[in-house]
Amino acid sequence: MFTGKGGVGKTTCAAAAALHYASLGKQTLAISTDATPSLSHIFEMKSKEKPARVQESLYISELGMDEVMEMWDGKFGAEVYEVFSSFVSIDYPRFLEFMTSVLPGLSEEFMIDYIRVLHLKGEYESIIWDTAPLGQTLALLETPALLRNHLRMAPRIYSKLRLGQKSREPVLDILKRWEQLSAENMDFIRNRVIFNMVTIPEALAVEQMDGIFGKLNEYDLKVKRLIINNVVREKDSAFLLTRAEQQKKYIEAIHDSYSDLEIVELPMFPYELKGIARLKEIEKTLFL
Ligand SMILES: Nc1ncnc2c1ncn2[C@@H]1O[C@H](COP(=O)(O)OP(=O)(O)OP(=O)(O)O)[C@@H](O)[C@H]1O
Ligand SMILES: [Mg+2]
Repeated sequence: MFTGKGGVGKTTCAAAAALHYASLGKQTLAISTDATPSLSHIFEMKSKEKPARVQESLYISELGMDEVMEMWDGKFGAEVYEVFSSFVSIDYPRFLEFMTSVLPGLSEEFMIDYIRVLHLKGEYESIIWDTAPLGQTLALLETPALLRNHLRMAPRIYSKLRLGQKSREPVLDILKRWEQLSAENMDFIRNRVIFNMVTIPEALAVEQMDGIFGKLNEYDLKVKRLIINNVVREKDSAFLLTRAEQQKKYIEAIHDSYSDLEIVELPMFPYELKGIARLKEIEKTLFL
């Protein structure tokens, strides 16, 4: 997983990583849930197939929100509705609309499950997801346990609330299953997923990165590699010299604060980073 503030180079690094694993001969899938299809842009792909084959062993899958929610509905919709509708009277279409628009992090939560299942199927040896779930999503993984504990503490109130024929037990059973599933998903991201943090050497980016590290720590998620992107290397003009001078203090600060991590510096390139040849240059730096 590649995480970091917007626009720092997550997709670029994810694409280079995917290329790397594929070139080692591993069946590799790069997944994104971006609103803009940036993976296919980087790989210069026209195919709309999901997954689309880039080259030997390398596939990309760009899932739109609608598709993700459709998959969510197919796998979890009915069950969640059953629990939900025992509290509130709501018809299914409105329930779906509520779930998709109101609950933030739901699609990412689903994506964790989706990727875990992909991993278990074993069709791909490496799966790259270009945006890590944070905050809301991780909190969602804890919701079933909270709900269940809450219900346990207020059974009488709950039994007054419930509607129709549904008994309390099945709902509690469902919640128990969710809780188990959430625990499995949490366990999966904690133990099987390698987190890569991407940042650039600028005040705001570094500040936001500290925030993301804080969030990850809350959930005991460890970052393996920290990538400092856009580092000015060729200081052959007054302009670039100034940029480099600016960057220096942030780069040093990052090395000081995160000395326990593997840190890679990625130079700022003078050209657009798209196409396999360009990505190979990034791959070389990222995976020395
Ligand atoms: N080292 C670099 N040198 C030059 N350009 C770069 C470098 N890294 C990334 N870029 C360019 O910066 C832009 C943003 O990169 P990218 O799309 O990978 O960021 P992102 O973190 O995925 O953004 P978003 O948060 O919007 O998804 C792209 O146009 C990319 O080509
Ligand atoms: Mg991106």
